[in-house]
Amino acid sequence: MTRTIFVLNGPNLNMLGKREPGIYGGKTLADIQADCASHGEIHGFSVDFRQSNHEGQLVDWLHEANDKAVGVAINAGAYTHTSVALHDAIRAISIPVVELHISNVHAREEFRHKSMIAAAVKGVICGFGPYSYVLALQALDNLTR
Ligand code: DQA
Repeated sequence: MTRTIFVLNGPNLNMLGKREPGIYGGKTLADIQADCASHGEIHGFSVDFRQSNHEGQLVDWLHEANDKAVGVAINAGAYTHTSVALHDAIRAISIPVVELHISNVHAREEFRHKSMIAAAVKGVICGFGPYSYVLALQALDNLTR
């Protein structure tokens, strides 16, 4: 059976391409989705790629992933820095979760240095631009073979 990895995106990531290109680059979320799908195809897993601006939706998708996926890569956007609910949802599921960020959050404003989800995830990838998504998929592929 084909393994599925969920890639979950939080608030404002639907604006990639138009949003602060000096920080996030010129790729759209659809471009990144296509990169993730082709990486999965080459390496033998399928990618279920989603985006929501709503915290509770991300919580629901984490729960859903527990039944349908072998792992989750999550760019929680600004909820990374605020969400106890995402921390708890990650701890509530049994599959590995990798936190990822396009930008190097540690080289940015102080409020981005703290992640509410980092202690609940398997590992964190940040600062590699859109390639952070592929790195997160590689890590999950390796963890779930
Ligand atoms: C981000 C970093 C967050 O601090 C920010 O709120 C985002 C994007 C990133 O991918 O670099 O929305 O998660």
